[in-house]
Amino acid sequence: MIVRMSERFVKDFVAEKEYQAVVAEVEKAHQTVIKGDGAGNDFLGWKDLPVNYDKEEFARIKVAAEKIKKSCDVFVVIGIGGSYLGARAAIEYVKSPLYNNMKKDTPDVYFAGNSISSSSLADLLSICEGKDICINVISKSGTTTEPAVTFRIFKELLEEKYGVDGAKERIFATTDKARGTLKDLADKMGYETFVVPDDIGGRYSVLTAVGLLPIAVAGIDIDSMMAGAALAREQLLFNTDEKSNSCLKYAAYRNTFYRQGKTTEILAAYEPSFQMMCEWWKQLYGESEGKDGKGIFPASVIFSTDLHSLGQYIQQGMRNIFETVIQIRDSGDKVIIPFDANDTDGLNFLSGRELSRVNDAAMTATLFAHTEGLVPNIVLRVQDRSANTFGYLVYFFELACAVSGYTLGVNPFNQPGVETYKKNMFALIGKPGFEERKAELEAKMGDFYEY
Ligand code: PA5
Repeated sequence: MIVRMSERFVKDFVAEKEYQAVVAEVEKAHQTVIKGDGAGNDFLGWKDLPVNYDKEEFARIKVAAEKIKKSCDVFVVIGIGGSYLGARAAIEYVKSPLYNNMKKDTPDVYFAGNSISSSSLADLLSICEGKDICINVISKSGTTTEPAVTFRIFKELLEEKYGVDGAKERIFATTDKARGTLKDLADKMGYETFVVPDDIGGRYSVLTAVGLLPIAVAGIDIDSMMAGAALAREQLLFNTDEKSNSCLKYAAYRNTFYRQGKTTEILAAYEPSFQMMCEWWKQLYGESEGKDGKGIFPASVIFSTDLHSLGQYIQQGMRNIFETVIQIRDSGDKVIIPFDANDTDGLNFLSGRELSRVNDAAMTATLFAHTEGLVPNIVLRVQDRSANTFGYLVYFFELACAVSGYTLGVNPFNQPGVETYKKNMFALIGKPGFEERKAELEAKMGDFYEY
C-alpha cells in the first residue's frame, strides 16, 4: 500500500459504535460511487481515468512536452483553480518548491492567470524578457476571466516576439473538446489543443491533459504517475472492506469528527514540497463539500514551520478542529548533522544523525501534544515523493472526497457558489449582458469606493 493510515491518534476520540454507524453510511456512499447512480454522476470520468484515458492524446502530450523542452527557457502555464493547482502540486511534490532555481535540463515553469494581480503579472513579464517562451493556456470553460485576460497579454507578447506563425508553434491550449471561446480561438489560430473531458470537473482533472502537459514538461514521468493512480483505483475503488481500505477509513473518520462538531480539518505535512498539494486538496474538498449550509472547512499547515505560528491555536484554541497528518516515509534526500569540535551550540548530541530523524521526532512529539490538547489526528503514511506515489495520492483523495461528499449528503461534483462572485465581477467590469446587475450593485455601493 502506498498510502496507509495509522489510527493510533484517533481511537481515543471515537466510540466504536459511533464510528461503525458512519462506516455503514460510508460503505453506502462508496457503492454510490461504484454504481455511478448518485448526484452529479455525469462527472465521474476521473474514476476510471487511470485505465481509460485517451492513449493517442497521451502520446501527443509527450511529443508536445519534448518540443516545449527543446524550444524554450520559460514555460508559462495559464489557468486557475482546477486548471492550475494540480500541475503545480505535482511539480513541487515530485521535484521541489525550488524547481525553477534548480540545475536541470527542463524549462523553468511559471504559473499565471491564477490571480488578477498586476504586480505579479508584471514580475513574470520581466522574468520572461530575453528568454524563449512557450505557453499552455488551460481553461475547461474557456471563458474564465483571470486566465483569459492573462492569455491575451502573453499571446500579444509571443506574437510580437515570434510573429503570428512563430507564436502558434509555442502556444498550446487545453480546453473543452468542442465548445467555448478558447476552443474557437485555438482552432482559428491553429494552436495545438488538448482536451478536458466533459465528464471530469476542474478539481478532478490533474491526471488529464490539464495536469499532464505541464508535469511532463517539468521532466516528471507521467506513465509512472498514471500507473500509481491505476494501482490506487484497483486497491481502493474495488475494495469494499473498510477495515483494509484506508481511503474509506479516511472518509469515515472525517465524517465522524464532523458530526462531533469538528467542522475544520487541518491537513498537516512536514515537507514544504507538500504545500501545493495542500492547496490542491483544499480546492478539492472545499468546492466538493462546502454547500447546502454544510461541509468541513479545509485548512492546511506545513510543520514544523507553522508550529511556530498556528501551532498555538491548534494546541489551545477552539476545539472544533481535527488534523490529517501526512507522513512521507522517504522524503528523498539525506542531510547529516555535522560534528563540531567546539560544540558551542550544544548540538553535538545530534551529530551524525539524519535531519529527517529530527523531523520524525517533531512529528511524533506534535501528535502527542495535539492529541493531549484534544485534537484528533488521522495519520496518513505516504511512501515517498515519486511520480507514482503522487498519482496514487491524487486518486486516494479524489475517491475519499466523492465518498465523503455523498456521506455528507451533497453533490460533490458541482460548485454553484463559485458563480456568485463571477456575476458581480462581470457586472462591475462592464461585461455585456450584466447591465441590470451592475445598476443594482452601484445603487448599493454608497461611498464604498471613496477612500
Ligand atoms: O473546480 C472547478 O471546476 C473550478 O475551480 C475551475 O477549475 C476553475 O474555476 C477554472 O475553470 P476553467 O478551467 O473553466 O477556466
